[in-house]
Order: sequence, then C-alpha cells, then structure tokens
Amino acid sequence: MRVLITAGPTREPLDPVRYLTNRSSGKMGYALASAFAEAGHQVLLISGPTNLDVPDGVDLIPIETAAEMFAAVEHHIGRMDTAVFAAAVADYRPASVSAQKIKKHGETLTLEFVKNPDILGSARGKFAFTGVLVGFAAETENLEANAREKLQRKGCDLIIANDVSKPGIGFDSDRNRVLLVHPDHSEPLPEDEKHHLAPKIVREIELLAAKP
Ligand code: PMT
Repeated sequence: MRVLITAGPTREPLDPVRYLTNRSSGKMGYALASAFAEAGHQVLLISGPTNLDVPDGVDLIPIETAAEMFAAVEHHIGRMDTAVFAAAVADYRPASVSAQKIKKHGETLTLEFVKNPDILGSARGKFAFTGVLVGFAAETENLEANAREKLQRKGCDLIIANDVSKPGIGFDSDRNRVLLVHPDHSEPLPEDEKHHLAPKIVREIELLAAKP
C-alpha cells in the first residue's frame, strides 16, 4: 500500500521569534511510519517539527504550520491507498503574524485567533479521498463517545482514540493506551510502548484495506 501519515505538532507563528504549538513529540506517528515501512508498505510522512530520526525507508515532507500540512496532504493524498492522521494540528492560529517582535506594553496581551482548516475532515469531501481513512482522537473525557462522533463526522474507517489526560501515556511519552473505534464496535489495546502498539495498529489497518 501507499500510506500517508501525518505526525507531530504544528507551529503557528506569532511574530519572528514566537510560535504557538503543543506537546506532540511525533513518537506515535513515527512509530506507525516505521511499522508500515517494516511491513513492506510505501510510506510518506508529513511531519511537524520533532527531534526524531526519519525511519528507514520512509519519505519525509517536513512542515511547520497547519496550512503547510494541509497543502502537503492535499497535494499527495490522491495517490494514496491509506491515510493515517496522527498529527496534533493546531485548531487555531494567530489572526495575524506580526512582522516585528511584539513589544511589551501593558500588563495583559490579548491575541485573536482564527480557525485552521480541518485536514482529516477535508479528506472525504475536498480531497475526494476514497482509500482507507484513519484518524486519531485525543480526548480528556468521554473517550469512546467523542471518538465515535469524530469517526462519523470526518468519514473515517477507524479512529484510534487515546486519553491524553493520563500521565505517562499519550502526548510526549514512549507509551500509549488506545481504543480502536470501528463503525460497529470498539477494541481496546493494552497499554504498551508506542513502537510495540504500532505493528498491531498496522495489522488492523491492513485488514480494513483487504475488505472488499
Ligand atoms: O506525538 P506524540 O507525542 O507521540 O503523541 C501522540 C498523540 C497524542 C499526538 C497522538 O496519539 C494523537 O492523539 N494525535 C491526534 C491529536 C489530535 O489533534 O487529536 P484531535 O482529537 O484534536 O483531532 C482529531 C483528528 O483530526 C486527528 O487525527 C488529527 O490529526 C486531525 N486533525 C485535527 C485538526 C485539524 N485542523 N486537522 C486535522 O487533521
């Protein structure tokens, strides 16, 4: 299969020296990229800034902002069989980027944000993607219900839900505990290292891709 994977955080600039980001390390997405490549698939990884090495046999497109990730996905998704969205994309970006460093003025600073495009949410509609579509859901409450709502709203075949309120798993951790949310059932995978979970998730996606 040709597999597109998004990973890592996005960085939304405020001025020449500051940006808004999140705690995604890229470990989950890179573990999946590595597991897909080891299983013999062609992998294109579209990733925000991380400290990780690109896994062997994986092509990387580095991006910084959500808009750049959107453009890269839009350009490449049409020739993919499977797309997996593990990136933690900033939902909002500063409404304007100051050309100069923002100076200290009063005691408070108010910034205006505008919505970023929903990249996964554009896959079925705007990008007309017909392959296997896998999203993540990072939740702090109502894990299964919120993930199932995302599965339906974004037209996914599978949502990999993780509880990001628990210490030691999820964001910026080597470990994770995920719930695989299918349209008709859910299956929990026991907590494990991300690089041990990844091959199990890959096998699950291979089964979906093999369905008529
Ligand atoms: O990178 P790590 O440190 O290893 O951490 C892994 C992780 C916690 C980041 C990962 O397991 C994870 O949950 N990734 C999705 C994070 C997220 O932003 O979830 P969400 O529930 O806000 O978004 C739902 C889905 O829509 C995700 O597939 C996301 O990639 C996608 N999305 C969201 C917003 C947006 N503008 N575009 C998108 O494509």
